[in-house]
Amino acid sequence: MAIMALLPIITAPDPRLKRKSKPVAKVDGRVRKLMADMLETMYDSNGIGLSAPQVGILERVVVVDCAREGEKPQPIKLANPEIVWESDETVVCSEGCLSLPEQYADVERPAAVRLRYLDEQNEIRELDAKGLLATCIQHEIDHLDGVLFVDHISALKRGIILRKLSKTKRLKSPVPA
Ligand code: NI
Repeated sequence: MAIMALLPIITAPDPRLKRKSKPVAKVDGRVRKLMADMLETMYDSNGIGLSAPQVGILERVVVVDCAREGEKPQPIKLANPEIVWESDETVVCSEGCLSLPEQYADVERPAAVRLRYLDEQNEIRELDAKGLLATCIQHEIDHLDGVLFVDHISALKRGIILRKLSKTKRLKSPVPA
């Protein structure tokens, strides 16, 4: 039995959230452990998705679970996810992010996507997603390219959110600098 661990989630502004993550060469024991730890960390924070860069690891690994409250968990673990098709139809969804705590904004994205990825056994798979799952997966894949949900909204709204976060971070800093 693997022992899981909670990972520290990094928050904006942090330069690591703006970097492009590297593909994993192979889904091996190390990557499986990372996926398990990320899932545990995501559940612990009441998130529906988490990407490796959000725990400071610049590798293309994502976990999501969009099951509703009361439903049985539907964890999905993705390595090197790639969107291979997206619908012309779009939807607007109010998005938040564990790396931008307590900030929300309406983001427009394709309503449905198909992705190709490596699963936990290092097998190539495809997945069709729509609704909340499609939005969540696109949000997480964005993280792998250093893109945050606020990068999809106006510079004005983005500025307001990022200034708020900088301020909160300064107030929380244990050592005044
Ligand atoms: Ni996020």
